[in-house]
Amino acid sequence: MALKFPIFMDSQSTTPVDPRVVEAMIPYFTEKFGHPASRNHPFGWEAEGAVDKAREQLAALIGARDPKELVFTSGGTESINLAIKGVAEMYREKGTHIVTTVIEQRAGLDVCKRLERQGYTVTYVPVQADGLVDVEEIRKAITDKTILISVMFANNEVGTIQDIAAIGTLAKEKGIIFHTDATQAVGKVPLNVEAMGIDLLSCTAHLIYGPKGVGALYVRRKAPRVRIAPMMDGGGHERGMRSGTLPVPLIVGFGKAAEICRAEMEQEGARLKTLRDRLQDTILSNVDEAFLNGHPERRLPHNLNISFAYVEGESVLMGLNKESALSSGSACTSATLEPSYVISALGASAELAHSSIRFSLHRFTTQEEVDYVAAKTIEVIKRLRDMSPLYELAKEGVDLKSIQWKAE
Ligand SMILES: Cc1ncc(COP(=O)(O)O)c(C=O)c1O
Repeated sequence: MALKFPIFMDSQSTTPVDPRVVEAMIPYFTEKFGHPASRNHPFGWEAEGAVDKAREQLAALIGARDPKELVFTSGGTESINLAIKGVAEMYREKGTHIVTTVIEQRAGLDVCKRLERQGYTVTYVPVQADGLVDVEEIRKAITDKTILISVMFANNEVGTIQDIAAIGTLAKEKGIIFHTDATQAVGKVPLNVEAMGIDLLSCTAHLIYGPKGVGALYVRRKAPRVRIAPMMDGGGHERGMRSGTLPVPLIVGFGKAAEICRAEMEQEGARLKTLRDRLQDTILSNVDEAFLNGHPERRLPHNLNISFAYVEGESVLMGLNKESALSSGSACTSATLEPSYVISALGASAELAHSSIRFSLHRFTTQEEVDYVAAKTIEVIKRLRDMSPLYELAKEGVDLKSIQWKAE
């Protein structure tokens, strides 16, 4: 098949909507336009039925016991805000300490920073060089004031998958609520809130081939019953946890996307892992001084993150992005020229953190696309290094750290 440009390989920022999802949504924009809270006529019943079905589809994907444990929101960011702020406010009398990690997505980190300004204390647990959090470090961080542990399921830059079940067990042992930002993991890897001891889970539709603008927060109702303070006051929708008219077409799309992921995840994950490994092997065997970021195995099957020494990530992207869409770091931080805080947290030098490129594959990625992007990446890195005096010196055996730079 002829290649179609630009090639999209940035699916951890967002995914293309699956045509089957679009098809499921369309009637809810047109003839099925009822308000799901209109309890006294068929338009309302139809909309409510569609929302209930989506709740069931999503509950099945994450292993929730009861679809009522899902609260629809506007996306991952809102779910994370609702989970962390909601627990902080609800359990303030019990304690004011939160344990999280240094590699959470901005939403998690920024909510915690805001709470610190309001008098809460937060421990940001570091990660190891492979991106994994040592569960013992979380244990050590817990105090008698800890009300919440919040650890992301899989990282958006390096794809490292945490030992969520072990953290869930620890949280249960200590009687602390456990939230996970599973935005990147839901629909991509097997996940079960019951088996893993998860009390709150944030996710979003646009990363599982669904529409933008809708997400969900799983809130455990039993063993323990978790309570959260709402962030939005109003009509008391979503059992009082999130007021506001539900975006029915988006929710229907989210449900359909969840159903497809549940049916196809295993096969799709295996296919993407094979393609990802091919991309990785081709690049790493043709480019020297290129380093894989994150855990080599405990990683999302569609993620590849590599730092290329002696080149700037932004220059690599400039060389590649006319024909292919890749990113250096997460979408929310790629507008800044700061090095990736995630790669830095793994212990990489500022130079290597500045030179990381994330390749993320998706449901519609083909082998031809992978081969094209691999070849192009190799070509661009070689070209940039040919122009790099630093690379030349390093190849001559000069220790770059020993050089005394002089301003003219
Ligand atoms: C790990 C992680 N958490 C949260 C979010 C935010 O989700 P949303 O874009 O739906 O607000 C993202 C978005 O990419 C993410 O990757």
